[in-house]
Amino acid sequence: MNHFIITGASRGIGRSLAVALAGPGTTLHLTARGDLGELLETVSKRGAAAHAWQFDLARTDGITLLTEEIFANINKDEAGLIALVNNAGMLQPIGPIGKHDTDQYRQNLEVNFVAPALLMHEFVKRTANFSGELRVLNVSSGASKNAYHGWSHYCSTKAGLDMLTDCLHLEHRARIKTFGFNPGRTDTKMQDEIREQSPEDFQYVQSFIDAKTQGKLNSPETIAEMMKIVLLEDRFEPGRMVSTRDF
Ligand SMILES: NC(=O)c1ccc[n+]([C@@H]2O[C@H](COP(=O)([O-])OP(=O)(O)OC[C@H]3O[C@@H](n4cnc5c(N)ncnc54)[C@H](OP(=O)(O)O)[C@@H]3O)[C@@H](O)[C@H]2O)c1
Repeated sequence: MNHFIITGASRGIGRSLAVALAGPGTTLHLTARGDLGELLETVSKRGAAAHAWQFDLARTDGITLLTEEIFANINKDEAGLIALVNNAGMLQPIGPIGKHDTDQYRQNLEVNFVAPALLMHEFVKRTANFSGELRVLNVSSGASKNAYHGWSHYCSTKAGLDMLTDCLHLEHRARIKTFGFNPGRTDTKMQDEIREQSPEDFQYVQSFIDAKTQGKLNSPETIAEMMKIVLLEDRFEPGRMVSTRDF
């Protein structure tokens, strides 16, 4: 049995990944704040076992309990692969530093950085005696390497996540295959939110509007198929950042 823990499964890339992975021999452990009932039905019809947790990743003090519950559903004696996909992410607050309420910046830091960091820590701890295959896939962004005016916290948390990817690989490569993945501009609600911004808050907004109009966005289904390859095949060296250009 292959187990996949996927955060941010309610829509966009995370939802498409859950559907792409769904099939006999697979158990999906899905989290999001939104309702996952319809997705559970969809993946069950494709032959997967699935569990869902409605959990707000900004509540990082609940992550130990969340992972305890997830791992209670993983029979390690029968598992071949256990994988963690840190996919959930948020762009907001968009606008220059200092513009929004402190709590909005805190939420961004918790969801994009603290939550995946603690999930990785729990994953390493809870799989310590597991002799099967382990993989971690952290969803990054081009913004982790480039400062975008108005995206300070998104850029910074993704840069931090990249460093955690490097550190996890460095420390645990003997038993965990760790990857970063940059999906590029993908047609999800996150892109809808970007196009709604004013040029004052986000000065590159027109280029994102143009990309949508010109049909230049990746589909979440295509991205999910690429992530499936990273999770199930040995095409890429662990420790590296995989991007759409690699396919
Ligand atoms: N789309 C792009 O162009 C693009 C480009 C580069 C990187 N990425 C990255 O790709 C990943 C997926 O993004 P997407 O484009 O699929 O975005 P999306 O459609 O907005 O989906 C984001 C997912 O994250 C979950 N999430 C957000 N806040 C959460 C919270 N507080 N607690 C729990 N879950 C939360 C959402 O679920 P709920 O709202 O139901 O909680 C949703 O399932 C993100 O890490 C993003 O940074 C996207």
